[in-house]
Amino acid sequence: MDQLTLNTPLDMHLHLRDGDMLELVAPLSAETFSGAVIMPNLVPPVDSLDAVHGYRGRILQAIGKNAFAPFMTLFFRQYSEAELLAAKDHIIGIKLYPAGATTNSEAGVKAIDSVEPTIRLMEEMGMPLLIHGETHGFVMDRETEFLATYRHLATKFPKLNITMEHITTAAAVELLDEFENLRATVTLQHLLITLDDVAGGMLNPHLFCKPIAKRPEDRDALLDAALKAHPRLMFGSDSAPHPREKKECCGCAAGVFTAPIALQVLADLFTKNGCQQNLQAFVSDNARRLYDVTPAEKVVTLVREPFEVPAIYGETVVPMYAGETIPWSVQSVE
Ligand code: NCD
Ligand code: ZN
Repeated sequence: MDQLTLNTPLDMHLHLRDGDMLELVAPLSAETFSGAVIMPNLVPPVDSLDAVHGYRGRILQAIGKNAFAPFMTLFFRQYSEAELLAAKDHIIGIKLYPAGATTNSEAGVKAIDSVEPTIRLMEEMGMPLLIHGETHGFVMDRETEFLATYRHLATKFPKLNITMEHITTAAAVELLDEFENLRATVTLQHLLITLDDVAGGMLNPHLFCKPIAKRPEDRDALLDAALKAHPRLMFGSDSAPHPREKKECCGCAAGVFTAPIALQVLADLFTKNGCQQNLQAFVSDNARRLYDVTPAEKVVTLVREPFEVPAIYGETVVPMYAGETIPWSVQSVE
């Protein structure tokens, strides 16, 4: 298997940032992906329709001539019915962060119970709820502890579509099978690495992200679900660029930058495991069906030819596998 064609690849969890960083990273996603779910954790957060419009305009500017659909999200707060109705046709969903769980989430939710009125309205309007599912417990247990909240929401709001963002545990994969209204994204790094790769030897800040990579058995369960293209699992890179000085320092920011290598590495991973026939569903079809989106078609051909990953992009952002050679590259995009 030396060549692979993907139709309309989608990244269902992406951080594009703003300003110079947006200008640098947006084209790197827009070259190969047909669209992406854009995270709203800017400073200040994207939490009004005006902010959505403004940010979307800056993204379209930054991607230049590339055909790329930015699926916008609002940052979760308590919204009125009128606000939600006005926003409905301009967003793909609302992203809920527990306060302080990750980068730029200070304005997030302190107690989920207290925001159920907004969640109820979202359910009635058929508006998806995207969740960063971590508690404030022990770092390795935060996601499993949060599963009770997913369970509660999935039961109490049976018509609400809930996306468990960037799942990292075998337990989350199991929960996905229990509730029809749960779906999930998984990142590139969580299909590949464990905590050992982050902190088992010399500390690798470029693999440090939230949720932190877990145990080998968790990674294996995630990989297994992705390789078989679990019908409610989607690729969401969670590509989260930070300037090098915010990663290689004391107090490293959380986030792994994978956008420019994601499809190449997925091609390698799926072919290596003999599951190339399932990559299309994982990286596009599942998302199109679950979110009912029809982005412009883009055909990406990948080949088994070495790609030297740049050591740094724009003298600012260090990608995963910086300076290494990966076995697959993008041959053409039409
Ligand atoms: C993300 C970021 O940097 O915005 N960081 C991360 O480690 N994944 C936020 C997030 O998705 O948690
Ligand atoms: Zn993220």
